[in-house]
Amino acid sequence: MIAYIEDIATHAGQAVTLRGWLHNRRSSGKIHFLTLRDGTGFIQCVMTTQAVGEEMFKGADHLGQESALIVEGTARADARAPGGYEIDVTGFEVVAESQNYPITPKEHGVDYLMDRRHLWIRSPRQQAVLRVRHEVINAVRDFFNGRGFILADTPIFTPAACEGTTTLFPVQYFDDTTAYLTQSGQLYNEANAMALGRVYSFGPTFRAEKSKTRRHLTEFWMVEPEMAYATLDDVMELAEALVVYVVGRALDRRKQELKTLERDTSKLEQVQAPFPRISYDDAAGILKTKGLPFEWGGDFGAPDETALSEDFDRPMCVHRFPSAIKAFYMKPDPARAELALGVDVLAPEGYGEIIGGGERLADLDLLLQRIKEHNLPQEAFEWYLDLRRYGSVPHAGFGMGIERVVAWICGLEHLREAIPYPRMLYRMYP
Ligand code: 4AD
Ligand code: MG
Repeated sequence: MIAYIEDIATHAGQAVTLRGWLHNRRSSGKIHFLTLRDGTGFIQCVMTTQAVGEEMFKGADHLGQESALIVEGTARADARAPGGYEIDVTGFEVVAESQNYPITPKEHGVDYLMDRRHLWIRSPRQQAVLRVRHEVINAVRDFFNGRGFILADTPIFTPAACEGTTTLFPVQYFDDTTAYLTQSGQLYNEANAMALGRVYSFGPTFRAEKSKTRRHLTEFWMVEPEMAYATLDDVMELAEALVVYVVGRALDRRKQELKTLERDTSKLEQVQAPFPRISYDDAAGILKTKGLPFEWGGDFGAPDETALSEDFDRPMCVHRFPSAIKAFYMKPDPARAELALGVDVLAPEGYGEIIGGGERLADLDLLLQRIKEHNLPQEAFEWYLDLRRYGSVPHAGFGMGIERVVAWICGLEHLREAIPYPRMLYRMYP
């Protein structure tokens, strides 16, 4: 019976056929130990001359790493085996040989591995990361779908800058038009929220800053909820519930992967509501007491974010930033007009910002003024201004970067391992 390694426990004592690739081979005299992987897991297959005969045994002698194999055998429980089972091989077929596979169990440099990303993803750690990513994405979908949010997609080709053109990738759109790759679905989400109430978009977004930091990708996946009749507080509550749910799902369903990654899961278990909520003012004060050279009015750099979050065992919300450093669409705080009703959620352990959002400016005149102040072309925003002309209501939302969350949950140093094929300033291959 054809089986997958992840289901092997349901086949104890049975004859099974596994289809996969040779991850590793050790031979000692009359026994081959073949570690087979099939995408669902890794398992040791034990082949003896006694069981398969001299000729077949010889056929496995020279097999290189990543040779494609179909193995037949019996699943046997073995307490010492990592997955609890081994296969006693009764027969096998070589589907395709592989010689001189470039990624061996020895250490390789990151550039070497990145150039071979299409092969690197076959390794246990990288597979574990991609499985956690899958869990995070599905947890996000389940979270919003379970709360009555409607998935409404937003365009990737956009006619104008959502937050200024300097950070956009231009694309030739037929003969005489320049389109830009979207950096956020937010403005369209606002329109969708006025139609559908609670919505979310979930797709690739693009940023053209020439940043080389380990937290920056030029192409990344973002989930963006938007709610009509909602405020900054609603956004903080929703963000908190989402993060708690997503981390809980990974802990629940991806134990094995987190173990492969040697993640200290006790840290993730602390991720429970409520998250501390700290104003930008207080955050600036904290940074001063910690001796960082931070001035009120500036944006937080990575060291500031790390210093702020190190006092807490769970994510924190920093709210009410100076309007001057935030986007044109943010609603000013009615109590202090120089502040914007925005929030960033910072992950613990130095992972920094994972969520950015807030309450939107619903007032037509003020929004017009902001568009002028930011030197944005008003014609391009006429459709967006219509949302303020026809039944404008308080509304709010946020964006969460999937790779930032995956990197944090997996304990990765760099975002490049949190997506199958990362796009960065100096990397577009493979
Ligand atoms: O803070 P950002 O720029 O917010 C927005 O784009 C809003 N318009 C979203 C909204 O309110 N609907 O980006 C949101 C999140 C960040 O917190 C971060 O997790 C992620 O997107 N992000 C990046 N991830 C990887 N690489 C980059 N270059 C990223 N820039 C932002
Ligand atoms: Mg941000």
